[in-house]
Amino acid sequence: IQEDLENLDPECKELLLSLPREKGFRTPYIYFFQGFWCQPKEIEAIISFQKHFRARDTDVVLASIPKSGTTWLKALAFSIMNRKHFPVFSDHHPLLVSNPHDLVSFFEYKLYAGNQVPELSELSEPRLFATHIPFPSLQESIKKSSCRIIYICRNPLDTFVSSWIYSNKLRPETLPPVPLEDAFQKYCKGVIGFGPFWDHMLGYWKESLERPDKVLFLKYDDLKQDITSHLKKTATFLGCPFSVEEEREGVIEGIAKLCSFENLKDLEVNKSGKSIKNFENKHLFRKAETGDWVNYLPPSMARKLAQVMKDKLGGSGLQF
Ligand code: A3P
Repeated sequence: IQEDLENLDPECKELLLSLPREKGFRTPYIYFFQGFWCQPKEIEAIISFQKHFRARDTDVVLASIPKSGTTWLKALAFSIMNRKHFPVFSDHHPLLVSNPHDLVSFFEYKLYAGNQVPELSELSEPRLFATHIPFPSLQESIKKSSCRIIYICRNPLDTFVSSWIYSNKLRPETLPPVPLEDAFQKYCKGVIGFGPFWDHMLGYWKESLERPDKVLFLKYDDLKQDITSHLKKTATFLGCPFSVEEEREGVIEGIAKLCSFENLKDLEVNKSGKSIKNFENKHLFRKAETGDWVNYLPPSMARKLAQVMKDKLGGSGLQF
């Protein structure tokens, strides 16, 4: 445990020693903090974020549980919001040379990582941020101000598979590979980064029903099915709907194509670059298929997870 907590702020270290913990896949332990599971360094950053961040009414926050389409949402929201400044058909569009995670920063992995307090007041408006933090633990000013939140989630079966494969790729050499069964048991118990997944989804889901002007709730698989209507919906939600002229010029299709998996994954920056925590960008682009879980999960596991989804999400109106 000591090794796990090395280099952390002493106050945070003390707190962690008092929290429930489970064996982790990418760190020796993950901890149950404010009702969700988290790695030590993430907790340290979240505490700093909660203390120091102040939202502006014009801010936009992209939220998700890991492996639900965060990279895609970052690319889409960035392109929509900056299209006047960076025309989508330009050969110099930032997405052609930067990974989406370098254009839209996470509070917990970048801005407040290492207990730092970033200077964000100079950023031009509207500011665009991202986070995996569950709704109840967002800084209060995000909830109270008129800033907007876009949440993306994905079928838990696919999210689980994506996350299991990703965790094994990024696992430090000091930790053994994670067998599918172990990862699955934990996922069904809710033990996954920023999970339980059902609490994460329901937190944003309920808020989106109560305050549809504040929280736009998107599903990865819906976007895959019909990107055009979701781009229109997102632009309208953000207060910058596409004009008739833009529609005629094919701006919507242009954004869809620029941000598509096929386009992004073949760009040099995404084949050889490094972004989040120095991990290779290529791991962020795997298959991007709906229903790929059938290639990994036996029917018994699929049935078990379907039951968990029914038990936990049933009655909420949220379905996959
Ligand atoms: P798979 O592992 O199923 O391929 P996140 O961005 O939250 O980490 O989610 C990762 C998942 O999104 C991965 O799914 C990845 O391949 C997929 N993905 C990455 N970029 C995408 C894009 N531009 N469009 C659609 N899916 C994308």
